[in-house]
Amino acid sequence: MAALITLADRFGRVATDLRVSLTDRCNLRCTYCMPAEGLAWMPQPDQLTDDEVIRLVRIAVERLGVTEVRFTGGEPLIRRGLVGIVAEAARLSPRPKLSVTTNGIGLDRLAPSLREAGLDRVNVSLDTLDPGRFEALTRRDRHADVLHGLRAAAEAGLTPVKINTVLMRGVNDDEAPALLRFALEHGYQLRFIEQMPLDAQHQWDRHTMVTAEEILTALAPFDLRPDVVSRGTAPAETWLVPGYTDAAGEPARVGVIASVTRPFCGDCDRTRLTADGQVRNCLFATEESDLRKLLRDGAPDVEIAEGWRVAMWGKRAGHGIDDPAFLQPARPMSAIGG
Ligand code: 5AD
Ligand code: SF4
Repeated sequence: MAALITLADRFGRVATDLRVSLTDRCNLRCTYCMPAEGLAWMPQPDQLTDDEVIRLVRIAVERLGVTEVRFTGGEPLIRRGLVGIVAEAARLSPRPKLSVTTNGIGLDRLAPSLREAGLDRVNVSLDTLDPGRFEALTRRDRHADVLHGLRAAAEAGLTPVKINTVLMRGVNDDEAPALLRFALEHGYQLRFIEQMPLDAQHQWDRHTMVTAEEILTALAPFDLRPDVVSRGTAPAETWLVPGYTDAAGEPARVGVIASVTRPFCGDCDRTRLTADGQVRNCLFATEESDLRKLLRDGAPDVEIAEGWRVAMWGKRAGHGIDDPAFLQPARPMSAIGG
């Protein structure tokens, strides 16, 4: 194997967790993410081919110390080559942990083959238990498909199945306890994510976002206890839910990802790759590094690895959402990957 360099930055952080966006397209139109008509999608030739994705993942794992690979979108399940990409990633040595973040549509059909290909886990987005609300929120009548997807993922052993929920004031912020009860009853692990300024429409407003503190207040009836396991580099702060166990018989947990009100940038271990082959050293980065150009110009692995290393070295200390000079990145969440 080639000599290992790491994706370290000037602040002593080392990225080992790679998020790969496989497409900027999606079959939902969540109001907090995209306009009804969708966005100007990435032209097909700009998108990395399956082989190009696999090559970059291989370089990350073999040469740059990446140990965990998460496939995201847009909606990664609509990428035709997904199962094959997962299968190739599972063959790498040392074998990375593999997961997918999905809206759950189509997961009922794909869960068994993804598991077979070597996928370890899924995170499924679900913001409401009410089908009518789901339709209002996502502009599509697909609530039942998501529930089927969740069940199929659990049955296929893609566990622990995690649910990501974004609460929005006046939209679904009354559902925190019901969503947690639902997750506990099904053995899913729920994580609430504070809404971040990453929507294509630039409508995010710090004064109306639902904070971690409010979420925890809403969950008071569950008598949550601080978790015994340390959080490490995980963005979610977790709590134990007395009286419940998860599918594996462990004490049940609920997580809150307070990206805005309690940023965890100091512990960040992420590096991100967009569907068109740009490295982003942060969700909120305003600059990207073009690995696709290196790839298509015929650069050898060692040169691509070096380009990636340099891109991460320049990672800023924090996202600066609280800074008056904060600029929302040009790409929306759907084109970066969650
Ligand atoms: N802030 C926080 N989470 C978001 N997601 C999409 N947009 C935002 C945002 N602006 C969530 C989705 C999904 C995950 C990929 O990110 O709901 O769960
Ligand atoms: Fe699709 Fe996720 Fe955006 Fe909803 S939030 S439109 S599921 S990419």
